[in-house]
Amino acid sequence: MSGIERVGVLGCGLMGAGIAEVCARAGSAVVVVEFDDSAVANGRTRLTQSLDKAVAAGKLGGEDRDAALARVSFSTGIEAFADRQLVIEAVPEIPELKLAAFRRIDAAVRAPDAILASNTSSIPISRIAAVTSRPGQVVGLHFFNPVPVLNLVELVSSLLTGAETLERARDYAAGTLRKKVIYAKDRAGFVVNALLVPYLLSAIRMVEAGHASAADIDAGMVNGCAHPMGPLRLTDLVGLDTVLHVANSLYEEFKEPHYAAPALLMRMVESGMLGRKSGHGFYNYE
Ligand code: CAA
Repeated sequence: MSGIERVGVLGCGLMGAGIAEVCARAGSAVVVVEFDDSAVANGRTRLTQSLDKAVAAGKLGGEDRDAALARVSFSTGIEAFADRQLVIEAVPEIPELKLAAFRRIDAAVRAPDAILASNTSSIPISRIAAVTSRPGQVVGLHFFNPVPVLNLVELVSSLLTGAETLERARDYAAGTLRKKVIYAKDRAGFVVNALLVPYLLSAIRMVEAGHASAADIDAGMVNGCAHPMGPLRLTDLVGLDTVLHVANSLYEEFKEPHYAAPALLMRMVESGMLGRKSGHGFYNYE
């Protein structure tokens, strides 16, 4: 067993809220840290709405919802992580933000054997670990959106991650959270995004070249390949900014053309068309 009962989550956006939810539902005491009061309020709403959805869908009892919510507390001060045994960082996929977050987490967490984990989808764990005073205790725990629904966690070790840290992180993700854990080497994109993102970029290039409409491309993959949603709707779900950041990390690492972001994706992000979260992307959500 991992022995982990007290968890911290930094960031309560799409991913952070989902991670906090699954940890609390699994019985952990969770402290969520956001940068200001309005981010805390948004995070709390996101988490509560998702729990309510689980109740409405018959996936969770009303009492279990209340118990899960009671296990989550929110703070704007990173000192709240002092006694945490595991902290999972889920700030936006921007390298400078991630590195700054890890410097602050490292300074705040007091437990000597605490695990510091990143939900990064593409930034090498070694680079993140290097800014901390305990690189042997840093791992990647990469969840998938929507976190309460999708079963996978990619577990990523750097060249410096200790065997005990890796084993405890695995035990927590597989044993406590009951996720399917796959191991990935510390390469940008790990396993899933290294395969998924070139596919999403190809679909965006198809739209850009006028091959077919977004709706028809999506209908093709939903009806022809039984995917739960097509690549453009999925890009909207993940967030166009996140897809762009991941593509840039992959391109920087491998320099392969299929990882290069299409101009259309860059222009849409520059225009604030970030997908579902901004109300506009390949589809409208307002
Ligand atoms: N807790 C538990 N269950 C929940 C829930 C919650 N909070 N919210 C929803 N569910 C359940 C629903 O009850 C439903 O269950 P059944 O299938 O048993 O009925 C199921 O989850 C689906 O939910 P919805 O009916 O609300 O939605 P949907 O059927 O339209 O499916 C979807 C939506 C789950 C997003 C689905 O389309 C899907 O899986 N799409 C693919 C998503 C994907 O590929 N994500 C990975 C993105 S890549 C990533 O995240 C990594 C990265 O680094 C970028």
